[in-house]
This record gives sequence, C-alpha cells and structure tokens, in this order.
Amino acid sequence: MQSAISELLAQMTLEEKAGLCSGADFWHTKAVGRLGVPAMMVSDGPHGLRTQKEGGGVNESITAVCFPAGCAAAASFDPELLRREGAAIGAEARAVGVGVVLGPAVNIKRSPLCGRNFEYYSEDPCLAGALAAAYIQGVQDQGVGTSIKHFAANSQEYRRLTCSSNMTERTLREIYLPAFETAVKEAAPWTVMCSYNRINGTYASENKTLLTDILRKEWGFTGFVMSDWGAVADRVRGLCAGLDLEMPGCGGVNDQKIVAAVRAGTLDESVVDKAAGRILNIVLRHADLAGAAVGAELDLAGDHAKAASMAAECAVLLQNRGSLPLKQDQRVVYIGGFADAPRYQGGGSSHVNSFRVESALAAARARGRAVEYVEGFPADRDQREESEFLKAVEAAENADAAVIFAGLPESFESEGYDRRHMRLPDAQNNLIARVAAVQKNTVVVLHTGSPVECPWAEDVSAVLCMYLGGEGVGRATDALLYGEAEPCGRLPETWPLRLEDTPCYLDYPGDGRTAYYREGVFVGYRWYDARKMPVRWPFGHGLSYTGFVYKSASLSSTDLAEDGSVQVSVTVRNSGARFGREVVQLYIAPPENAVPRPPKELRHFAKVSLQPGEETTVTFTVTRRDLCYYDEELGDWYAEPGEYKVLLGHSSRNIPTVLPLHYTTAHRRPLTVDENTPIGDLLRDDRTASIVRTMLTRFGGLMGANGGDAITEEAGLQMMDGMPLRSMVAFGGPEAAAALPGLLAALRGAVRPREERT
Ligand code: NOJ
Repeated sequence: MQSAISELLAQMTLEEKAGLCSGADFWHTKAVGRLGVPAMMVSDGPHGLRTQKEGGGVNESITAVCFPAGCAAAASFDPELLRREGAAIGAEARAVGVGVVLGPAVNIKRSPLCGRNFEYYSEDPCLAGALAAAYIQGVQDQGVGTSIKHFAANSQEYRRLTCSSNMTERTLREIYLPAFETAVKEAAPWTVMCSYNRINGTYASENKTLLTDILRKEWGFTGFVMSDWGAVADRVRGLCAGLDLEMPGCGGVNDQKIVAAVRAGTLDESVVDKAAGRILNIVLRHADLAGAAVGAELDLAGDHAKAASMAAECAVLLQNRGSLPLKQDQRVVYIGGFADAPRYQGGGSSHVNSFRVESALAAARARGRAVEYVEGFPADRDQREESEFLKAVEAAENADAAVIFAGLPESFESEGYDRRHMRLPDAQNNLIARVAAVQKNTVVVLHTGSPVECPWAEDVSAVLCMYLGGEGVGRATDALLYGEAEPCGRLPETWPLRLEDTPCYLDYPGDGRTAYYREGVFVGYRWYDARKMPVRWPFGHGLSYTGFVYKSASLSSTDLAEDGSVQVSVTVRNSGARFGREVVQLYIAPPENAVPRPPKELRHFAKVSLQPGEETTVTFTVTRRDLCYYDEELGDWYAEPGEYKVLLGHSSRNIPTVLPLHYTTAHRRPLTVDENTPIGDLLRDDRTASIVRTMLTRFGGLMGANGGDAITEEAGLQMMDGMPLRSMVAFGGPEAAAALPGLLAALRGAVRPREERT
C-alpha cells in the first residue's frame, strides 16, 4: 500500500494534495478523479448513524437504529456489549457506504453539568478506555473506520470553540488522555478527531505535543487526524502540528493557504505529502473494503431488537427496597410523560433519525400488564398542572404500585451548551414527593444523560436509571420492571448529593476564556473518596435482583517486581435465587507518599453471568503501570516502591476484599542534592534516609530535631522536614560547616544512578 501511495503522491499536483487535506463538503473527503482516488463518506456517530440522505440537507439523515447513548452503554461496564454495539453500527455503516463512523466520544465527565455528557462514557479513564477500544474493534471488524473524539480535554460545551482547558501535565496524562491512549494502543482507530478547545493555551487542532509527539510517537497511531467541524484556527500551523484533514473544509479557503505557504517557502511540501498520504491510506483502505461490502443490507428490525436487549443490560438499579420486580397481577399506575414518550437519545450531532421507538407504556400494554397511565407532567418541559397532579396522586393511592417516569427534557441537556443546575424539572420533583407520600411502592424510572439531584431518594422505594437507552429503551424498561430482564448496569460516574459537592464546582465552566482544572486528578470518585464525602450513589454502584458474594481472593504473589506481573483471582458466587450479572471491580490503593494521589483508582473490571448458586473465578493481571501515577519531573509514569493494596469490590464504596501487594523497583524519582535540598526529601528517600539520620544524630539536637521536652520526636522531625541542608550550618556552627561537604558527597553518591557509579 505504501508504495501505491507514494506513486499517487508523486503524480498529484500540490493543489490536489492540499485539497485532499480538507473535506469536499460536510460529510465527504475529496476525490481525485483523474487518479482514481474516490471520495470517502464519514458520518456521526457515535450511537447510531446520522448519514445524510442522498440529495437531502446536512441535517436530513437516513433512518437508522438508535443504540444506547454513551452514558447508557458505559453503564453496562461490559466491553462485549460495546463490541456488539460497534459491530451493529459498523454493519449499518457498511450497508450505506459510510467509510468512517464519527465516534466513540470518550471525553471525561469532569462535571455533571457538561451538556454533552450523555454522549461520553465515564468520569474514569480506565472504564472509558476499555469500552472505547471494544467499540472501535466492533465497528472496524465490519471494515468501517472510527474516529475517536474529541482529542482532548473537551469536558464542557460552554465556549468550546475557544476556551482553554488549563491543567497540569499530570492531570492531562492521568485523567484526560488515558482513554485515548488505551483505545489507540489496543484498537488502532482509523482516525482521531481533535477537539475544538485549546489545551493550556494551544488549540487542539494546532497542538503538536498532542497530535504528533504523544499520539503518533508515543502511542504509535498510524491513521489520520481530522478536525472537529470548524475546529481549525490556523490551517498551516495545524498541518505542521499533525492535523491531516480539515472538516468540513471551508470551501477550499485553507487549501489555498497551504499552497501559498509552500510556494512562499514557509511550509515544506513534505508536510503536505505526509498528511495527504495518511488520508490516502485510509481512503484507499475503505475503497478496498467497500468492494467486499457490495450487497450488504440494512437489517433495521434486527438491529432494533439488539438495541432493546442492550438497553436492558445498561440499566442501573440504583435502589430497591422491595418494590421491584413488579408482579404481573399488580395494579400499577404509570405516571409521567416519559412513560409514553421516553427520552432515549440526546440532542446535537449524535441525533439519530430513529427506526422505531418503543415506550414502556406501549410495551406494558402489549404484554397485558395491569397498567393505568396518568401523564402527571409532560416529558418535554417543566410544567405543573394541579388537576393532573391530583389525578396522579389519587391513582397512585388506589394502585398497588406507582412507577414515575422522570427525566430531563431534551432542552435541558444537549451538545452546544451546559446545564446550569443539576435538578430535575421542579414539577417532577414535586409530584414524586406527593406520590411517595401516599404510595409505599413508589418506583422512579430515570431518563437522563447525566446525574440529577434526587432529593426524594429516601422517600421512594426503588429507582431504576435507564440513562438515554436508545430506541428500544421502552421494551427494556418493561422487561426490567417486571423481572423478565435482570438489572446489571453499574454507574460509570458518581451521583453526587448536590451540585455544590462536585470537584470542579468552583471552577466550572471557567471565565469564558480559560477553564482551570484546579481539582487536578481528583475527578469523580477520586475526589469524593479523598474528601470522604457522602454521595447519593457511588461510582460502580448498581443492584441486581439476586446477590453475589466473593470468596477465595488471592494473589499469585504478594510481591510485584518492576517488570513482573501478579495474577489476582477471586471467586464470585450468585448467592440469590435468580440469574444475574456481577461486575467485579479492581481498584489499586497507593502507599502513603509525598505525592498526593487518589485513595484508589479503578484498574480492571470484569462482568460475569451466573445462574443461582453458580460460581466462577475471575482473574486479573496487575502490572507496574496499574500502580503508577504520572511524574512530571521524570516525564514518565512512576510507581514508587512500597505497600500497595488491591481492592476487589462490587462498587467503589462496597469493597469486601483487600489484598496487600508489595512493590519493588530499583528506580527512584530524581533527587537533586545540594545545600538547599529539604531534609524531609532526603529522609523520605530510602537511598539517603540513613545518611541523613546519622547527620541528625550529630546535629539534630541543635537544629531542634529532638524538639526538646515540649514536643515529640515525630513533631521534631516534621519541623525538620522543610529545613534545607544548609540549616545544619546555621544551627550547628563550624563543626557542621566542616561536615557539610562530606555529607553532600555521600548523599550525591547515594542518589547517583547505578550505571554512573564506578
Ligand atoms: C461537531 C461535534 O462536536 C462532533 O462530535 C461531530 O462529529 C461533528 N460536529 C460532525 O457532526
């Protein structure tokens, strides 16, 4: 292929090559007819196709199946489900001639307010990365490409085209990049879409560090980078940074700038060749595969059934005090407009012209359930009418159970803007409280793309979160409510008690020019755990109609060496009377150290299916990288030696099993030793600790290290912590001054890398 591409490039004019670097229109790359290079169609994405109709406007899309949106799909905690979803979307894409599906969208949910959270997976990069990789494999196995987006640090809609996401390198590396890193390394997406925003002042579309140094050189990405639609600021700068394709293409204005820059000698033509070559590589790959796809047909009815069964696997049973599952002969009242018109997808570029939408009410009626319906409140706005409220409360009082279908109206959350608060419409909160006061079997079903405050949680019996479950969500809700499907989703994000508790509450969405990510790596549960805060429902939480117990947890070794690995096993038993699915979550807790770290971080998870009484053993492989944080001084991932903990749990706050793990490594963080090095740094480093202790035995008394009678030795050492080495001279006088050079030499010898020692 490479030689074919070189040949093509050699035959192309500069204008043709520059032209290839921008779209022909909204959804196509340019063809080079005289050389037989076809155009390639791209299409949103991510949870169903939004493919422009032949001859239709940009917003007129073909009928396609709307699968569970990212928020819901992530709640499956199941890469296999994402693979299935990807495969189904990939097959539809192949049948209609799409070359690249614009997804998955893996931006981290920094605040519940981000208008686009419904499209994104998680607050946790490990979960988001594993799911993204599976989705990509699913799509690409069909011979269709993907565009993982939005690279990077695009966690708000407010001023998304210009705002700068400012953060430390550590925060970027630990939280905002790893989902991309995992997906690129494990699933090799054909393309990456850069985001609109700036990162520390530099547009993503011009960010060489991101687009070239990290993406290509470090992670080995070989596809092409496209811009988000309209994300290009300076085209030539972007090209040099590694942005290959501009979308949608601005009518060729920027192609001319590229040509002019080459002619003026300010841009090397080889840069254009590289970008055009990368685009050609994918376009030709697609053309090859498209040949094999001729005759592929859409199976919308089949995909609808798949979407409905996926929706059931994505639902999260948040609370159940016994009202669920409902029984066929119970008299149940359904309240809330979402029962009849479920909200199942979000607004903006991911909006699918859905094939068939099923409501829970229609599904219940089709199955002959004893269900009465009172609208109570509309699904599309915050409206309260006392007559409807009275009807709903009376019906609830006279029924065996009341199910309130609540959620966010479409106008509350969408691409393009953020929410200002985290509340449901007031009418809904109000009616839920009134129904709960008269009916002990009150169940709330939620249709939202992001967490909402649930002030009534303690007053209702059960809460079932469907997120935005795609067009089959009604059928899925019905099956879950009546126990014909088992709830097995887990929360991919913390549901806080209130907005004011969220990590970036004070900084979100910034001042319009800059969003300061001051919470650093403490995003989501990393924050709530570090602050030991109560939350409504924790990350990873989700109930089942059965129960699970863990036993025989073990490590293949309690010691992990730097280049080694340890197998962690645990046996999971279904201890209840029904089939169910459990998600085993493995978190790592670091040793206490000088670098502030979250108390624990998700590193692995596995979903298992078990019949009543059945058990299975789950095994994970833990390696050094699982223990690491990103050390800015080193410019690399680093795990310090010490005592780690492996936590195995049902959720981030329900951890029945803790296993100690001792990590050894010869690598140490760099430590500069001079007269100004704080004594605390030397005491904490096992290479220098004993040398400094010997010094303190001699001079520490004079420096206050023994603290005198008034304070403890520990307190004295704490006082010592920030003192520079030169303090020993200030307090110890000539004798200490004479000892200092020898001490410095000994310390420097101890910290010198092994290979430099003679
Ligand atoms: C802008 C959105 O941010 C992106 O996700 C989408 O793929 C493009 N528009 C194309 O619709």
